[in-house]
Amino acid sequence: MKILVLNGPNLNMLGIREPAIYGRTSYADIEKAIKEKCAALGVDCEVVQSNHEGTLVDEIQRAYHERFDGIVINPAAYTHTSVAIADAIKAVSLPTVEIHLSDPDTREAFRHVSYIRPLVIDTVKGEGWQGYLHAIDILYAHISK
Ligand code: DQA
Repeated sequence: MKILVLNGPNLNMLGIREPAIYGRTSYADIEKAIKEKCAALGVDCEVVQSNHEGTLVDEIQRAYHERFDGIVINPAAYTHTSVAIADAIKAVSLPTVEIHLSDPDTREAFRHVSYIRPLVIDTVKGEGWQGYLHAIDILYAHISK
């Protein structure tokens, strides 16, 4: 099994960025924990972060062409704006889990919209960085079925 864990804009600033909302764990430490989790499950995983919408679309398409089994994605701010990322997820139709460290539904009104929510098998939110590990478990269970 091979999965892609994809992270959108400003998530490379985790640990520095608004720690009261996103916590003090750095992006590098989260990436390490994701890789350890996947290794423990016997899953190959790639963890990618980009600040660019088109690069995120390219990565979703690459997951299809390179025969990944599923995607865990935190599109960050693009969650609330990007038709292109939603269309890419639709286009590849790979099982996908949405994850947010915070709970966008309890924050500003503009964060209440998620263009990808109707397309994903599940959404993990408000669990901090550990939400990534939960999202991987959900994807793993879904693919293993
Ligand atoms: C986020 C929530 C988004 O609203 C925000 O723009 C982010 C991070 C989260 O993980 O809680 O950049 O996706």
